[in-house]
Amino acid sequence: MPKAPDQTTKDLWHVVAATDELAIGLVETTLLLDRRIALTRGLDGEPVVWLATDEENGDEIDAETVFDRLPVRTAYGYTWTCLGTPSAELFPIPEYAEPDRTNMSCGSIGIHVSAPRAVENFLDMGHFPYVHTDILGSEPHTEVKEYDVEVSEERDEVLATKCKFIQPMAAKSATGAMEVEYVYRVPHPFCSVLYKSCPEDENRRDVIGIFLQPMTEETCRAHLLQSMIDSYSTVTDLRRFQQTIFGQDKPILENQYPKKLPLDPRSETPIRADKSAIAYRRWLSQKGDYLRCDPAGLLVFHGVIPAKAGTSVTKQGSPLSRGWHRDKPTRPVRQGGL
Ligand SMILES: [Fe+2]
Repeated sequence: MPKAPDQTTKDLWHVVAATDELAIGLVETTLLLDRRIALTRGLDGEPVVWLATDEENGDEIDAETVFDRLPVRTAYGYTWTCLGTPSAELFPIPEYAEPDRTNMSCGSIGIHVSAPRAVENFLDMGHFPYVHTDILGSEPHTEVKEYDVEVSEERDEVLATKCKFIQPMAAKSATGAMEVEYVYRVPHPFCSVLYKSCPEDENRRDVIGIFLQPMTEETCRAHLLQSMIDSYSTVTDLRRFQQTIFGQDKPILENQYPKKLPLDPRSETPIRADKSAIAYRRWLSQKGDYLRCDPAGLLVFHGVIPAKAGTSVTKQGSPLSRGWHRDKPTRPVRQGGL
């Protein structure tokens, strides 16, 4: 019997589908926080979401007959819902509204790992040469250079800036290797947005979002967004590029152990590449539902292994045993400072 999600997680907006891919009048079912939910779109094209009873995937339904609905909003091409009391706003991605961008969903991919683990992998540049060989990285350019990380209290998000990496093929529009600058945001516990140098316009950034749907504590669906400056590639080509990258990440993610994200600093070894991951874990710890500690005194948050009360991920803390660390012993591991 899965444990009920903490209130912090219940009150979040959660992504559940690419809106255009929901067929009008047909039921799609999926899992959200261990609850079976059903989705469709009405004749007006608007998504409708509810807690599933006996509906099955592919059933025909008139959305007007669904009265007990969950909250719904659409943003960035996706449908979002909430099992608790949602906040009014979802995090902003202002670039999405720029008229000359090509915005697209790039698939919804099931992964046997927790949503926080998938966010953490998205933040990690150190795996580029080993997992995305000759696309996002290549040997001998394996060093993760010093970069800045902060937690913005005003925007309530983790922000990593000045992240630089030499990439053989940074985007579909790239014509050769280039040093790419990245900015990562984590504006939601299960979502991250990446801004990277745009091969076509050096003054602008391509935007890639990963929105994780926490299905259970150890499984999720990754919904991918691209918002690109690219006058030449087709949407199909842009999607295929991103799906190729994510196809390389998926088996690595699924080999991670444990599948939930440990927040206890003692389970880890510090390396510079994980500076953003450590900030993310600390931010998650702070967002955890401190007032609802379980009887053992543990903090509760969906998809993580909580630190014991009184401990948190600190600067001396460390990322843990990611599966590919063990599989890729050639990766430079830096002990000590972040
Ligand atoms: Fe990756």
